[in-house]
Amino acid sequence: MEKLTDIRWYDSVESTNDEARRLLCELDNLSVIAARCQTAGRGQGDHKWHSRPGENLTFSVVLKFGGEGALAPLAARDALLITETVTLALRLYLADEGVKARIKWPNDIYVGDLKVCGILIENVLHGQEVASSIIGIGLNLNQTVFPEDIPNPTSLSLLTGRRYDPERELVRFHGILADCAEKTNTAEGRRYLDGIFNEYMFRLP
Ligand code: BTN
Repeated sequence: MEKLTDIRWYDSVESTNDEARRLLCELDNLSVIAARCQTAGRGQGDHKWHSRPGENLTFSVVLKFGGEGALAPLAARDALLITETVTLALRLYLADEGVKARIKWPNDIYVGDLKVCGILIENVLHGQEVASSIIGIGLNLNQTVFPEDIPNPTSLSLLTGRRYDPERELVRFHGILADCAEKTNTAEGRRYLDGIFNEYMFRLP
């Protein structure tokens, strides 16, 4: 029997990554915590993540490795595979919308020189293995006006001229991510993820 996807929507949380971490024990592989509004959304380093409530996608996906119903075991030294998986899924999702995106090292998604999506990956290690990964994604869907202090923002709507239903888009993205995550189960899939990541990544000078 096919398992239903566990996507939990909240009206407001501090940060979906923090909520996912709090619930980690009860969440299965590929579960999602999504929020219409984050009151303390976190970016890389000390940065905050800005997103106008209800307009965009702010969510965290949990990947689990090396257990029942989980993905194949993942050594901590191979943790880049998680970035490779999620950036591929985001590129494929955006390509479906006719948007050609690139990865700015290590895990920002850019279209031209504009940032459409940020990723915050937090791994839980057991010894030398990744037990779980909390993948926080802020994907700008409908927002067209951004605070001045955000460098180079854009949104899918600004890029395509269309408006998006966040709940529907999350279900679509989740399906793509689930297919990409499946690739981490085989050596061949892992080589594919490595190769495609290097091809689409650009490093700033
Ligand atoms: C960055 O570009 O600095 C990373 C931004 C990551 C933002 C997302 S929004 C959902 C999840 N919850 C958070 O608090 N942060 C991530």
